[in-house]
Formats: sequence, structure tokens, C-alpha cells
Amino acid sequence: MSGDARKTAEGLSYLTGFGNEHASEAVPGALPEGHNSPQRAPLGLYAEQLSGTAFTEPRAYNRRSWLYRIRPSAAHPAFARTGNGGLRTAPFTQTVPDPNRLRWNPLPEPPAGTDFLAGLWTLGGNGDASQRTGMAVHLYHANASMERVFSDADGELLIVPERGGLLLHTEFGRLQVEPAEVALIPRGVRFRVELLDESARGYVCENYGASFRLPDLGPIGANGLAAPRDFRAPVAAYEDVEGPVEVVNKFCGNLWAATYDHSPLDVVAWHGNYVPYVYDLRRFNVIGTISYDHPDPSVFTVLTSPSDTPGLAGVDFVVFAPRWLVGEDTFRPPYFHRNVMSEYMGLVEGAYDAKAEGFVPGGGSLHNMMSAHGPDRETFDRASAAELKPQKVDDGLAFMFETRWPVTLTPLAARADHLQQHYDDVWQGLERHFRV
Ligand SMILES: [Fe+2]
Repeated sequence: MSGDARKTAEGLSYLTGFGNEHASEAVPGALPEGHNSPQRAPLGLYAEQLSGTAFTEPRAYNRRSWLYRIRPSAAHPAFARTGNGGLRTAPFTQTVPDPNRLRWNPLPEPPAGTDFLAGLWTLGGNGDASQRTGMAVHLYHANASMERVFSDADGELLIVPERGGLLLHTEFGRLQVEPAEVALIPRGVRFRVELLDESARGYVCENYGASFRLPDLGPIGANGLAAPRDFRAPVAAYEDVEGPVEVVNKFCGNLWAATYDHSPLDVVAWHGNYVPYVYDLRRFNVIGTISYDHPDPSVFTVLTSPSDTPGLAGVDFVVFAPRWLVGEDTFRPPYFHRNVMSEYMGLVEGAYDAKAEGFVPGGGSLHNMMSAHGPDRETFDRASAAELKPQKVDDGLAFMFETRWPVTLTPLAARADHLQQHYDDVWQGLERHFRV
């Protein structure tokens, strides 16, 4: 953490527009015009393509960028296995999938000197990273900036800070991300995390499947939910550092490290549509009823990772942003339900309108496939008797990673001291009201 870092972060400029063909150069003339791979790239740089999709995927979904760098990525020594710390990867087979409703308190304080990578702790997930299907839920708690550089070949990383700002130094440039914002780091993109505050805590969805994209809007129309232009990409910025730099690569579930003789964050110019983004969740345009009943919470989807089945996501990122509730003769909190999809929920700030207590910022809950859940007793009793005037829900920011397969826990999560022991109690005492 340093004042300089925050000053740098606050002064950053950005490119805008999710999925755009962006272009940026940190030095004028570094980006070749009308050409990807000239015989000699400008300024003595090396040209290199980074492919996030197969070359032949449809144009609408194809993701790749061209990078112009001081050294090609290929200039590195062999990687050797290093410890995985608290990181685990699908397939998750060490515990039996659990049908119970589960809830955790926030991660405990980490030891001094814990950086973002060391501070990652895997709750669980599904699918198989090597098959590029499924997802993992991680939390992080860090109190030191990364000196090393990380990249994840297994999936893209959706970072959801809950406490503490982050300055992300990526191959594409720098991004500031604060609580109530999210950052998206594409698969394989190298980055390091500098803390902007004393400590940093939050959540990460590691998406092994198709890259997150904006959901289709259907009858909602051409606007609504997350606007493409509110996604910010970095402008090119490079490190010209000679000397040992540790680079850690997550590959098929294991961490591998190599000591480079230079910084791999040495991209002077780039163009393309495979880039990191940051998005402010408070910009989300919330859709809801203006007559009666809630629409399903799929209308709160910020980003979706589609599967091969239309409408069925590998994982959706869903936000419960501040909104008005105006439904007539309507139970206003989220309804009771059972869902074929599995739901991990976290809380960035405040409270969630279906849970009066116990669901706290930095904590999380897991409602696996078909587990029955909904408002707790206190919330049900209050909402059933409430006067139905327009009500602003603006005291919290909750989110959900909603995934097609059950989330199997890691032993770390199944046996954690911060796993709550009596979560079921929130649904105890719901009274019988039935009268014939
Ligand atoms: Fe639910």
C-alpha cells in the first residue's frame, strides 16, 4: 500500500465499451497501422497474438488481442511446481456434494505479508478446469501487494472486492477496482495486484468455461441491465524492468513458478477485444415489476458464461443493486424457491433484503441444486404484514454466482471454523397459517 499507488490509481484513464475492438499505445507509433505482424514491428517491439477463443469461433464471440512487447512471452525459463496454498481446482472430489444450506462468516485475518495470490482460498466449484467447463468460488484476504506476477490458464477471474481497493497491473495496462466494482481478468493474462488500502478482502469467480459476455436482452430491448459502455478497459502501460521477476502460472489446478530476467508486463501497445475490464455495479440498470410479482432474478444478470444449451449458463454473475420495490399485493422480498441451478451468494456491503441477520459483508451462502431457501422467518413475518407503499432497497449490495452444476466444497470450506453451524435455524419457527 502506498499513497503513490492510490494517486496513480485515481489518475488512470480508460477505454470504454465491452467487447470493443480497442487499441492503445503507451508510446506514440508503437502500434502498427493496418497490420498485425509487420516484418519488423515499430520501435523494435515483438508482435504477439493472445487468443482467448479458438481461431475459428464465430466472429461475434471471437476474442483475441495483438500485443507489442519488449520481449516475446516465449522468452522465459522452465516453470517448476510450487505450492498451491489455499487454491483448489475442479474437479472437486474431496468432499461429498452437500444438499444442505450452508453459510460462512468472512475469512479470518491472514498472516502478515499475505499477497493476493497467497490470500486466495477456494470454497468449492464444479466442472473440470482441464475440460474448460464449470467454475470455482474463491475468497481472498490479503495485506501485502504482490511483488510477483500471476496468470491463470484455467479460467478468467471475476474479482469482486468487498474491502479495500486494488490497483491491477496487467499486460494491457492498469485498472483500479474498489468495493462495489468488479474486475474481469481474461484467461492467461498476466497481472499483479497492488493494495490501495491496509488490507483487501473479497470474492473471485474463476470461470473455466466460455468467457463472460453481456446477456441478451430479449423483450427488454436494446438498453438495460449492464451497459456495454460502462465497462472500462485499461490504456497501454508497460514496465521496463530488467532483473529477476517471479511469474506464477496456474495450469490445470497447480501453480507453477519461473523466475524471469525481466517483467512480463512489458506490453507497450496493443489492440483487440480480449482485454481486462472493470465495471461499477452501481451503474447497473435494474429491471423489476411495475405491476405485481417479481420477475425471476435472471433480470439482475450482469455477465453470463453460456453453455452449449441455449439459456443455460455455466455461470451467471448476478447483482442485487439498489432498487425500488413497488409491486402491488406482492410479497416484496425474494420469494421462497428451489432451483435446478446452484447459488453462491456474497455481500459487498450492508444487508440483503431476504436475510435479517447472519449474512454479513465478506461472508457467503451456498444454496445448492434444489435446496429449499428464501427469506428467513423474521423477514417473512415483517414483509407479510408490511404496508405496501413504494420502498427503496438501498442498504446493501449482494451478488450471486449462479451455476448450472452443484458446487462441491473443498475440505478447507467444509471444515472451516468460519462455517456457520446453525444456518438452518433461520427457517425454523415459520408458523403454520393454514386454515380451511
Ligand atoms: Fe435462490
